[in-house]
Amino acid sequence: MILLCTLILLALCGPAHGICGKTCGLRPMGATFGSSRVVGGTDVMPGFGAWAGIASICCFWKPPIAVHICGGTLVSAKWLLTAAHCFNNITVPLNEWAIVLGATSLGQSNVEVRRIKRVIIHEKYDIELVHNDVALLELDRPVRCSSSIQTACLPGPSVKVSELKNCYVAGWGDRIVKSSGRDVLQQAKVQVVDNKICNSSEWLRGYIYDFHVCAGQGGIGTCQGDSGGPLVCQDNSGGFFWQIGVTSWGVGCARPKRPAVSSSTQYYYNWIWSKIGMKPAPAVTPAPVPAYTSAPLQTVPPSPMQPCPFPREKLLQFFNLLKDILRFLKQKMF
Ligand code: ARG
Repeated sequence: MILLCTLILLALCGPAHGICGKTCGLRPMGATFGSSRVVGGTDVMPGFGAWAGIASICCFWKPPIAVHICGGTLVSAKWLLTAAHCFNNITVPLNEWAIVLGATSLGQSNVEVRRIKRVIIHEKYDIELVHNDVALLELDRPVRCSSSIQTACLPGPSVKVSELKNCYVAGWGDRIVKSSGRDVLQQAKVQVVDNKICNSSEWLRGYIYDFHVCAGQGGIGTCQGDSGGPLVCQDNSGGFFWQIGVTSWGVGCARPKRPAVSSSTQYYYNWIWSKIGMKPAPAVTPAPVPAYTSAPLQTVPPSPMQPCPFPREKLLQFFNLLKDILRFLKQKMF
């Protein structure tokens, strides 16, 4: 009951709503049930900001059917960050693809869907070596942020990424998802492996460069279909998360000493923001409720001391949230 009340409060008085891009870094949170896809992971609970920046890139989406190709993350109202290799061998015309935001289950229909206006693949992307495996997708229309859609925070040069702890990956895994309400986003806690170790002879011997981050091995980690999705780590000052990697490749899935490899968002920070042509949003600022906490940068914190009116939009969000929770509970019971 306390959890439910917290969720309701968070949904109503929670982080930035309106056009995305004012803050970033909502923390991933979710209940822990079941497992699959992201190997060794658990279901992400719907509706209250779990992995709020995450998107599914689908080459076909008509609920309840979703053909999921890759993950991605919203970095501004109009731009999604993903992996370049997601666009190798495209057969479906790009204007038919769908970017699905605000989903935990891919079959759900209360999501935001956008079309792809433009794909920017890194100029030095090497299809054979899978180097510089990053891409940006411009969306046809800006996205409104909500309790289930927020932007991810990318670490600039001053963030000490190697000192971050509590790292997670998330994704919808399988390449082809026939949705029946069970295609629930998976998350898993992973250990980041230092690049030197990761590149050593017993590990990924010589395949690792500065633009890589290794994380998740020995039973836990990403797998096919998780590409383009986020590797995030909690900021040391509190609860918001930095997206430090974009899932890129792996040798098998979750094998010992074969960690999944991501493209480093810190390495590509300038590339990303120069392509988008704007400044990054500041991270979310301190709020004493458990889901959203401190940030190094400006903006007014969504403090519970501030009045929290419940206009029509908030009430609608509230009822959608309740609907999500009930659907989730129903799925878990039957
Ligand atoms: N490259 C793969 C994809 O397209 C998966 C990336 C993670 N793979 C892995 N084995 N850890 O989805």
